[in-house]
Amino acid sequence: MERWTRKAIWIVFFLLFFLSVGCSTSTNPVSPSNLNNTDNVALNHNEQVQENTDNERQIVVGFSQLGSESDWRNANTRSIQDAAKEAGIELLFANAEQSQEKQFEAIRSFIEHKVDVIAVSPVIESGWEPILLEAKQAGIPVILSDRAVQVSDPSLYVTIIGSDFYEEGRKAGKYLIDKMRNETGPVGIVELQGTFGSSPSIERGRGFRDVIKDQENLTILQSEPADFTYEKGKEVMRAFLKERGSEIKVLFAHNDDMALGAIDVIEEYGLRPGKDIVIISVDGTRKAFEMMTEGKINAVVECNPLLGPMLMQAVGEIIAGRTLPKRIVPPESVFTEELAEKEVGNRQY
Ligand code: AHR
Repeated sequence: MERWTRKAIWIVFFLLFFLSVGCSTSTNPVSPSNLNNTDNVALNHNEQVQENTDNERQIVVGFSQLGSESDWRNANTRSIQDAAKEAGIELLFANAEQSQEKQFEAIRSFIEHKVDVIAVSPVIESGWEPILLEAKQAGIPVILSDRAVQVSDPSLYVTIIGSDFYEEGRKAGKYLIDKMRNETGPVGIVELQGTFGSSPSIERGRGFRDVIKDQENLTILQSEPADFTYEKGKEVMRAFLKERGSEIKVLFAHNDDMALGAIDVIEEYGLRPGKDIVIISVDGTRKAFEMMTEGKINAVVECNPLLGPMLMQAVGEIIAGRTLPKRIVPPESVFTEELAEKEVGNRQY
């Protein structure tokens, strides 16, 4: 009898041992070599996996960022990386340097590594249907971050977290109408657009036009893409000044970096930015606020890059099986030169 009890104890012991070994094996995907893991996060993850004997596992998100063209973009990247760390989420980060093809490659790599969620900031609006279908067929939910896509099937992505660019264009137009309310003569406008085919460029231009279209004295003289960069902003503004010179009374720049480039060439040309040429910009970076305090930019329509916490929260909700709204818009304001001094110290990017 005693021999049988001892035998039974040994059998139970071996069963428990094998069960515990089976439970502690991590099935987490390995980071691909062309992607950057957010520092230390993988380490924390492994420690956690070893500690937990139940089915808790670290979430892995693949994020395809479109590039690093502006201060806004760099703040956006930092926000997402920091929020991932904070949430204990492993982030596979890929910078596409403005190439849609590179974004496709990154997404394929995320699919191959079986990430839990894919987040993407699409460089342009068109051409996304096939790659999003690949993600859907692999059963990986996709979140659009910042920019939108044109697809016939909205189920190809779960939600879009980002600004209402159309509304931003409208805000710029409304500010201009108010600023020019006592102006009876013709007001010539030039427009520095962002990346050709990108949703902020398309929508900001559309919103602006919709608001000013009934104002007979407001005319858009020229409108060209300047890729959301400081250098291109300089180049295109120089060409505008060469062709239109003193006819230009207003510059609408689709972002701050281009506005800053334009300010430099306006001064080289011998005109006073903010006075001879009214300047309206979008984003709200600290540098643009400094220019506003000097009276060189008249108004900035805020576009919030600090999307990281919202993105990580959405990832958590998806993993928990909850439904998200199709569109999540961050809070945003308009700042004018009168408010700049008060606000400049609060800018986080
Ligand atoms: O998509 C958001 C836009 O992209 C920002 O306005 C611009 O600065 C950035 O590069």
